[in-house]
Amino acid sequence: MRGSVVVIIAFLSVVLALWDPHDEVRQRSHQGPLVHGRALPDEKSNETSRARELKYFNDQTDGMSFLVNGIGAPEVGFDIGESYAGSLPNTPSGNSTLFFWFFPSDNPRASDEIVVWLNGGPGCSSMIGLLQENGPFIWRPGTYAPVRNMYSWVNLTHMVWIDQPSGTGFSPGPPSVQDEMDVANQFNDFWKRFVDTFGLKNRKVYLTGESYAGQYIPYIADDVLNRNHTEYFNLKGVKSIAPVMSDEAVQAQVPVGMAVQRFQNVLGLNETFMEYLREKDETCGYAKFMDKALEFPPPGPMKALTPNAKNCNVWLDMMTAATYVNPCFNVYHVTASCPHLWDQMDANERSIGPGHYMNRTDVQQAIDMPPTNYKTCVEYSMFGPQGDPSPLSAFGPLPRVIKKTNNTILAQGLLDFRIFANGTLAAIQNMAWNGAQGFQGAPSKKLFVPYHHGLISTLQKTGPNPWDAGAGHLGTTHTERGLTFVTVDLAGHRKWRATDSKVLTARI
Ligand SMILES: *[C@@H]1O[C@H](CO)[C@@H](O)[C@H](O)[C@H]1NC(C)=O
Ligand SMILES: *[C@@H]1O[C@H](CO)[C@@H](O)[C@H](O)[C@H]1NC(C)=O
Ligand SMILES: *[C@@H]1O[C@H](CO)[C@@H](O)[C@H](O)[C@H]1NC(C)=O
Ligand SMILES: *[C@@H]1O[C@H](CO)[C@@H](O)[C@H](O)[C@H]1NC(C)=O
Ligand SMILES: *[C@@H]1O[C@H](CO)[C@@H](O)[C@H](O)[C@H]1NC(C)=O
Ligand SMILES: *[C@@H]1O[C@H](CO)[C@@H](O)[C@H](O)[C@H]1NC(C)=O
Ligand SMILES: *[C@@H]1O[C@H](CO)[C@@H](O)[C@H](O)[C@H]1NC(C)=O
Ligand SMILES: *[C@@H]1O[C@H](CO)[C@@H](O)[C@H](O)[C@H]1NC(C)=O
Repeated sequence: MRGSVVVIIAFLSVVLALWDPHDEVRQRSHQGPLVHGRALPDEKSNETSRARELKYFNDQTDGMSFLVNGIGAPEVGFDIGESYAGSLPNTPSGNSTLFFWFFPSDNPRASDEIVVWLNGGPGCSSMIGLLQENGPFIWRPGTYAPVRNMYSWVNLTHMVWIDQPSGTGFSPGPPSVQDEMDVANQFNDFWKRFVDTFGLKNRKVYLTGESYAGQYIPYIADDVLNRNHTEYFNLKGVKSIAPVMSDEAVQAQVPVGMAVQRFQNVLGLNETFMEYLREKDETCGYAKFMDKALEFPPPGPMKALTPNAKNCNVWLDMMTAATYVNPCFNVYHVTASCPHLWDQMDANERSIGPGHYMNRTDVQQAIDMPPTNYKTCVEYSMFGPQGDPSPLSAFGPLPRVIKKTNNTILAQGLLDFRIFANGTLAAIQNMAWNGAQGFQGAPSKKLFVPYHHGLISTLQKTGPNPWDAGAGHLGTTHTERGLTFVTVDLAGHRKWRATDSKVLTARI
C-alpha cells in the first residue's frame, strides 16, 4: 500500500563492546630502527607579503598563529600551499582541544563546501590520512621523501584533517569520551568554533574517514542532523572506507573462508589448512550465513553468530597460517610481501621506518605546536577499559543518516583482510534503511576511473612520474535508496594510496 513503509527492524543482536581493527596487529608488530631521511633547506617566507594573497588569513587565524608556512614543511621540497594548523576547544568549558590541519582548495566549484577527514583506531591520528593517503604531500610506501600527491582531495575541495576524540594524535589527552554521544558532542563544539574562526558558515559539509571512523561518522552526522544546525553544519553526505559498522563476526570472521579461497593463489596456504577452513565454514555456519547474507534481495533478517563461544575465530588462525608462509603478510593489504616497506608514519603496521614525522621537533615547530609526545596511534582505549559501549553504527545511527542525506558512501578495498568487502556487504544486507532491507540487486556496475595523460608519461618513461595511478575499470559501484557501496579491486584497508588515491578523488 502506498504510503505505508515496512521497516524490518530485527537485526543481528545488538552487540558488543568495541572491536579494534588494529589491536591484534599492533600486538604482533615490531619497531624498526630509527633512521632519518634527507632534510631539505628550511626556507623562510615573507609572511607579511604572503598574507595578502591568502584566502583564509584573518585577524582570528593570525591571532592564533594558525598559518603554516607553505615552503617550510621539513623534508618537503615544494610549496604545499595555503594551510592552517592548530587547536580549538571542543568542550563548552574550553578545557580540552582538538587539533586540525585545514587546506583550502583553489577549485572554484568548491567555494560552498568543506570536507572533513577522520582516521579510526580508535585513537589513530588523522595525519595518517593527510600524509599517506589523500593530502597534498604524501610518503608512498617504501619511500624516504614525500612527493606531491597529484590526486590530493585538496585539488577538489576544501579539506580539514582532524585528530579526534581528544587523546588522539595532537589533541591532548587524557581521553574524555565515554561513548559515541560524547564523541559527537565534542566534535560539534569544536566544529562551531572552527567555522567561526575561518568564516565557513552555511558551507555544505561532508564527513569522510576510514576504519573506526565508520563508527564515529554516523554518530556525529546523526547528532548534527538532529540539531538542525545548518548554519554551522549543513551536512550533505558521508563516506566511510573500510568502515567498522557491524559485528566483528560479520565483517571479519564469516568472510574469511571465501576470501582465502579467492586469494589462495596469493596466500599459498597448505592443503591441511585449507581443509581446516572448509570444515570451520561448515561447523561454524559461516558458509551458510554468507550464502544467505549475499542474496539479493535479502531473504530476511540474519541470526546472530558467536564465533568466540564456538572456537570459531578463524581470522586469527588465518593470520597465523598466512604469516608462516609469508612472514611479511599484512592483513591490511593481502598482496604485500617481504621486505616490509619503510613507513613514515609507522601506523602499527608491520613495517620498518623512521616513524613519526609528526613527532619531530622541527615539524612541530613548523605547525606552531608545543612540544608534543606524538603517537600515530595511542595504545590506550579511548573509551575506558570497557571499550565503546555505543551500538555499532549499522544498529544505531547509520540507517537514519542514509535516510536524511540520501548521500552515503561505504567503500571497501578487496585486498583488505581486516575488514572484508564481502563482510561489509553482508552487514549492509542485514541493515534496513529508507523502507527496505539491504540491496535488492547485487553490485555489478563497473567503477570507471578516467584515463589521464600521466599514464602516457608512465608508459613512455618520459621523465620522473608523479602520476602513478590506475585508470579504467578498477572496481564495482552500486547505489540504492541513498546508499552507495563501492569496491576497489587493488586497494587494501588504509592503503588507499598511490594507485588507489585517484579512485578516492571521485567527487562525493
Ligand atoms: C616582506 O614583504 C613586504 C611587503 O611586500 C616588504 O615591505 C618587506 O620588506 C618584506 N620583508 C622581507 C624580510 O623580505
Ligand atoms: C573539563 O571539564 C569537565 C567539566 O568540568 C570535566 O568533567 C573534565 O574532566 C575536564 N577535562 C579536562 C581534560 O580537564
Ligand atoms: C592537483 O594540484 C596540483 C598542485 O596544484 C597539480 O600539480 C596537479 O596537477 C593537480 N592534479 C590534477 C589531477 O589535476
Ligand atoms: C529538527 O527538525 C525536525 C523536522 O523539521 C523537527 O522534527 C525537530 O524537532 C527539529 N529538532 C530540533 C532540535 O530543533
Ligand atoms: C565475495 O562473495 C562472492 C559471492 O557472492 C564470491 O564470488 C567472491 O569470491 C567473494 N569475494 C571474496 C574476496 O571473498
Ligand atoms: C599447514 O599449515 C598449518 C597452519 O599454519 C600448520 O599448522 C601445519 O603445520 C602446516 N602443514 C605442513 C605440512 O606444513
Ligand atoms: C617522540 O618524541 C619524544 C621526545 O621528543 C620521545 O620521548 C618519544 O619517544 C618519541 N615518540 C616516538 C613514538 O618516537
Ligand atoms: C531519499 O530517497 C528516498 C528514495 O530512496 C525518498 O523517498 C526520500 O524522500 C529521499 N529523502 C530525502 C531527504 O531526500
